Amino acid sequence: MSEPIRICAADDVPKGTAIRADVDGAEIAVVHADDGNFYAVRDECSHAAIPLSEGEVDGCTLECWLHGSRFDLRTGEPTGLPATEPVPVYPVDVRDGDVYVSLTPSNGVTR
Ligand code: FES
Repeated sequence: MSEPIRICAADDVPKGTAIRADVDGAEIAVVHADDGNFYAVRDECSHAAIPLSEGEVDGCTLECWLHGSRFDLRTGEPTGLPATEPVPVYPVDVRDGDVYVSLTPSNGVTR
């Protein structure tokens, strides 16, 4: 389990939006979902190399803008075609108003 790394202030990511962060060379999408929780996934669609952080947050999913696959932010699983492979999900901690991410995927996807 890797050490949590501070990414940003929670206020930097308004509810319903996502930001892109470079964490030790890994591109991460940090998402403030509609359920009020923060999530982090690899910032690359599993269908093609499109940053998911440029997509739409909808409920607990992040939608890729290119072909519309949605990824469940809790599991990384796509909920619709054309993507069929999950994306890595990273554990997020919100402490004292700051967002921390660990780079060990919680869903076992390391691709
Ligand atoms: S590139 Fe994301 S769904 Fe095709």
